[in-house]
Amino acid sequence: MAVYRWKAAVVTLSDKGFAGEREDRSGPLISRMLADAGYDIQRTVLLPDDREEIEKCLCRLCDEYKMDVIFTTGGTGFAPRDCTPEATMAVAERNVPGIAEAMRLASLKITPRAMLSRGVSVIRGQTLIVNLPGSPKAAGENLAAVLPALEHGLEILTGRGGECGR
Ligand code: MTE
Repeated sequence: MAVYRWKAAVVTLSDKGFAGEREDRSGPLISRMLADAGYDIQRTVLLPDDREEIEKCLCRLCDEYKMDVIFTTGGTGFAPRDCTPEATMAVAERNVPGIAEAMRLASLKITPRAMLSRGVSVIRGQTLIVNLPGSPKAAGENLAAVLPALEHGLEILTGRGGECGR
């Protein structure tokens, strides 16, 4: 049976990363975890914490490149420039609170600081967008918490449930 590989994009939001002052280790880590889970990473992007830029990028990945799922990393905290959740909500058509709730629930068992991530999860068109925190440790832990359930959601969202054998 044909195996469908979900089209995924990974977007790192970091002023320091964009300026070349800090190596982006979270983006590559997320990409590796997703590739291991069978996702097809078609786009990786590194952007500063600029709300307009982030909104434009997310819209293109959804509307033009037709990604099945986009994972962002970074910009979910309390720093004045952190605006990933606001940019994500601005392009959202439907809220998917359960994914963000599940990430915080699982993460709170690891650290009380998990409550400091303001990350959201939403749908735009046929694309799921999930915000992950910025540090490699936090991004990896949050992704691991929700990865097992995502595929079923993507099947329903894209209507590909019946066709794929995974
Ligand atoms: N979630 C997990 N699982 N593990 C972590 O170490 N760190 C928290 C939180 N979520 C953490 C976590 C911290 S310290 C912050 S400030 C927020 O994520 C926001 O991170 P960001 O600003 O890098 O996006």
